[in-house]
Amino acid sequence: MKKVVLAYSGGLDTSVAVAWLREQYGCEVITLTVDLGGGSLREGVERRAISAGASRAYVVDARERFVTDFVWPHLQANALYQGVYPLATALARPLIAQLLVEVAQKEGADAVAHGCTGKGNDQVRFDVAVHALDPGLEVVAPMRVGMGLSREQEIDYAHERGIEIPITKASPYSIDANLWGRSIEAGVMEDPWASPPADVFELTVDPALAPAAREITIAFEGGIPVSIDGERLHPLELVDRLSVLAGEHGVGRLDHVEDRLVGIKSREIYEAPAATVLHAAHRALEGLTLSKDTLRFNRLVADELARLSYDGLWFSALHRDLRGYVNSSQRVVSGEVRIRLDHGSATIAGRRSPLSLYDKSLATYEADDAFDHASAVGFIEIFGLPLRVEAARHGAVGKHHGAAWAWTDPLLAGLPQQVTDK
Ligand code: ARG
Repeated sequence: MKKVVLAYSGGLDTSVAVAWLREQYGCEVITLTVDLGGGSLREGVERRAISAGASRAYVVDARERFVTDFVWPHLQANALYQGVYPLATALARPLIAQLLVEVAQKEGADAVAHGCTGKGNDQVRFDVAVHALDPGLEVVAPMRVGMGLSREQEIDYAHERGIEIPITKASPYSIDANLWGRSIEAGVMEDPWASPPADVFELTVDPALAPAAREITIAFEGGIPVSIDGERLHPLELVDRLSVLAGEHGVGRLDHVEDRLVGIKSREIYEAPAATVLHAAHRALEGLTLSKDTLRFNRLVADELARLSYDGLWFSALHRDLRGYVNSSQRVVSGEVRIRLDHGSATIAGRRSPLSLYDKSLATYEADDAFDHASAVGFIEIFGLPLRVEAARHGAVGKHHGAAWAWTDPLLAGLPQQVTDK
């Protein structure tokens, strides 16, 4: 290993990693810092990289690429890992990996490095993505191969070498942040029964202390949000503004015991105000504009896409093909959604679309009802046919207390009997 490109956050761990890589491998270290919004770019990061021994420090503003290429496709898909986590951290990894590979190729480096530990998802995401994009690159994770220093040891290590380190108070939490959300773990949250302490939250106020409820209107075109309250906004501006708006109302706090790829259950607190509102609004608009079958199929796709992204398989063919399907399904998801932000909740107050499938003349209970009530009889006759045949031949399930099948099915025989119908 002669030249390595290190994903550099500017924090203590990666600053020490610059020097550690040079000393361990006698190699040249180039750092890459990626600005993904949400305050993820630290001040003086280039200077600190050089002070730690980097020969060159890249800082790339990838915020727009992050939103348009990584965040929007997952919003369009309604992709939430295990139905909860909007994937802020997970979506950032393939983009950082892409940039690492771009810089490595430009610099003629033979390896890339990252500061992940050996028990999280992020190491998997980086390694797998880098190798998919350039199998010739070696991936080194100092934390996995011997650089396991305590915070105090890292501070000493840096001082001995005159490395400038960020002046931050020791935080008991492990935090990752970008414009799509903050992920917070460790400290007292390792007890899944313990409430997250107030000081873990930065983007959202305590819902109990939020101001009076307010309503906002978000417009979508092709499943992508384009305006707030009638004002057309650049994607970055839209996410930022929504993050502040929703955060002020305490919207977007998530508490998730999630299943990591490496087999560990982990308790994570997320703050994702913009994601929470946009996901709710997008789903509401889909409910109006997509057919029942498309909606049902989309739920499967959402789950699958979320899992692939969470597991770091962004650059797989399946991921790309599912994104293609999602994008196609979104061509009619245009319209507006009204959302009420009220002490921590974001509830749908209304939706409308020129492409709506909702037909009032069919849904109404009023006099101008256009639905043919009489033909419902024939429909039900045919629809219920298989059930009537089954009930006639096998007996209707639930007809008698202790239906025969409940006692004779060998799988059920050992279970406590819970047949309650009379
Ligand atoms: N559990 C989340 C994920 O795997 C977030 C991990 C980010 N790290 C952190 N320090 N909280 O995507």
